[in-house]
Amino acid sequence: MEAQHVKAICPGSFDPITNGHLDIIERAAQLFPRVIVAVLENPNKKPLFSLMERVDLIGQVTAHLSNIEVSCFSGLLVDFARRVEGNLIVKGLRAISDFEIEFQMALSNKKMAPEIETMFMMTKNEYSFLSSSMIKEIAHFGGAVHDLVPPQVEKALALKFEHYF
Ligand code: PNS
Repeated sequence: MEAQHVKAICPGSFDPITNGHLDIIERAAQLFPRVIVAVLENPNKKPLFSLMERVDLIGQVTAHLSNIEVSCFSGLLVDFARRVEGNLIVKGLRAISDFEIEFQMALSNKKMAPEIETMFMMTKNEYSFLSSSMIKEIAHFGGAVHDLVPPQVEKALALKFEHYF
């Protein structure tokens, strides 16, 4: 598959998007001509940010990238990828602890949709400990998250937890 024919998908819950996610999305946008950020609507999870809030925040923080589209999906990622004619799934890998689940997901997706590739990028060292759950916990108890999330997300978290600036 040549890079110019790639339509890449960066999937996730993005509750909310972090600097770690943004780093992976920006790097994917440099490598491939079209990138779709795909936000999972998971009826089994109660997210802090609604689907529309998550999509909106991603739109705001990726506004500087002209080849990014933000979309949402429920159900299987491979079904979404086929619907939008995506042919590559791009994911960030943080620590060894991510590996097992990511390996399982990549092989399951490959079994269901052999024509779709999965590619992993190692996260930047400074974001290797970051997760949306950790950020929500820090923000919930009034800790500083300004180095961990884009300013728009910092503000949205402050509003959610009513720590007004
Ligand atoms: O940000 P997350 O929660 O780690 O993202 C996980 C995500 C959305 C990539 C993953 O849960 C997913 O692809 N869900 C869709 C359901 C699916 O396709 N499952 C089968 C293969 S794992």
